[in-house]
Amino acid sequence: MKIAMLGSGFIARFYAESLHAQRRKDHVIMVYSRNQANAERFAKDYGLPFYSTSMEEAISHPDVDVVLISLPNHLHEAAVLACAKAKKHVICTKPLGRNAQEAKRMLDAVEEAGIFGGYLEDLCYTPKFLKSMESVKRGDIGRVLWTKSREAHPGPHSDWFWDKEKSGGGAIIDLGCHCVEISRNFIGKNIKPVEVMCWADTQVHPIDAEDHAIGLVKYANGAIGQFEVSWTFRGGMDLRDEVMGTEGTIWVNSFLRTGFEMFTTGKGDDGYVAEKAESNSGWLFPVGDEAHELGYPHMFTDMFTAIEENRDPLETFYDGYVVNAILDAAFKSADSKTWEPVILEDWRGDEPEDRQKDWESYDDDHYLIKDEILPNGDVAVILKHKKTGKVSKKVTLS
Ligand SMILES: NC(=O)c1ccc[n+]([C@@H]2O[C@H](COP(=O)([O-])OP(=O)(O)OC[C@H]3O[C@@H](n4cnc5c(N)ncnc54)[C@H](O)[C@@H]3O)[C@@H](O)[C@H]2O)c1
Repeated sequence: MKIAMLGSGFIARFYAESLHAQRRKDHVIMVYSRNQANAERFAKDYGLPFYSTSMEEAISHPDVDVVLISLPNHLHEAAVLACAKAKKHVICTKPLGRNAQEAKRMLDAVEEAGIFGGYLEDLCYTPKFLKSMESVKRGDIGRVLWTKSREAHPGPHSDWFWDKEKSGGGAIIDLGCHCVEISRNFIGKNIKPVEVMCWADTQVHPIDAEDHAIGLVKYANGAIGQFEVSWTFRGGMDLRDEVMGTEGTIWVNSFLRTGFEMFTTGKGDDGYVAEKAESNSGWLFPVGDEAHELGYPHMFTDMFTAIEENRDPLETFYDGYVVNAILDAAFKSADSKTWEPVILEDWRGDEPEDRQKDWESYDDDHYLIKDEILPNGDVAVILKHKKTGKVSKKVTLS
């Protein structure tokens, strides 16, 4: 693939680093930046033959196969509409929109234009996440009941993130989009998210948006997806997921604890340790290959292979739209302090069904509540009578 990069900031560089790493064959050939000097510098740093200060020129360049949007949130829609007009495949960083209405217009535009729309939700492509999903799909942890996804760091690196008008919100839109999509994958994308309860506050920074939030997303099958997001966390970037199922549990730590710990007095050159690391002396938690740990190589491989195979990628514009709809409900709930419905005018998954409770029988008369081996080796079973509802305990001696 020959790629046009829109934007030359933080994520554009991260993407370019992973696209041009090692011996990958897909290359950025063009960069758009409104600032000529930044465009030139980016093109020089990554050896690109073309750069432009015109977004339209960059998108419509005849050699470009796919456009990669790495612009601030308020510019995603205009960039997607320009790709649709030029009939160029597009992949867009997260969040897709500042709200579901914006995301829906982007979704409609790519579908009407018949172009590819990939949602760059990198944290749904980390090696640990992909392997966890395989286990969940195989049924290793049974029916998923609860997920928790947490992303917390000391706050973003650019002014526009802190401006609610440009970003669409604070930590909820910036980090909650990752957490919500991680939970949706574990719970099942075909399961409808129905309502959200969210607490949000501005605890530390002088901004209009929230810098800390915790939310619960209730799904039609009874599962709960919890998100914890913060721009007030000190100590680096905390990326953790937990999944609890009827038959098992998964805990994933994607960044601060990857098994790489190092101490330095700080006497060497002041260096970069890892994204949002707050210190480069003392005990440090570096990350071996950040782009890989954050999922970029797997994400781009899926996107470009999907274009070639004329199939959907794992993360589509439709997913980005559903995430935005869930986050819209979270913002509403933080204001109303009540559960708020997730409004999805376009729902493509299963219709909610009456939940059937499928209790495990112990014998003809009893359901099994649980069994346990006691410290002395006896086995206790806790039972519920099917007709009377009486709860009892039966012990088999060791
Ligand atoms: N893990 C991830 O997937 C991840 C991580 C960081 C950022 N992002 C997303 O990437 C996007 C960009 O974030 P970033 O961190 O690179 O921001 P950034 O501020 O570092 O870079 C933004 C780029 O857009 C340019 N820009 C700003 N205003 C512009 C305007 N009005 N017109 C044209 N260009 C303009 C800037 O000059 C810069 O090149 C955001 O949507 C953000 O949410 C995703």
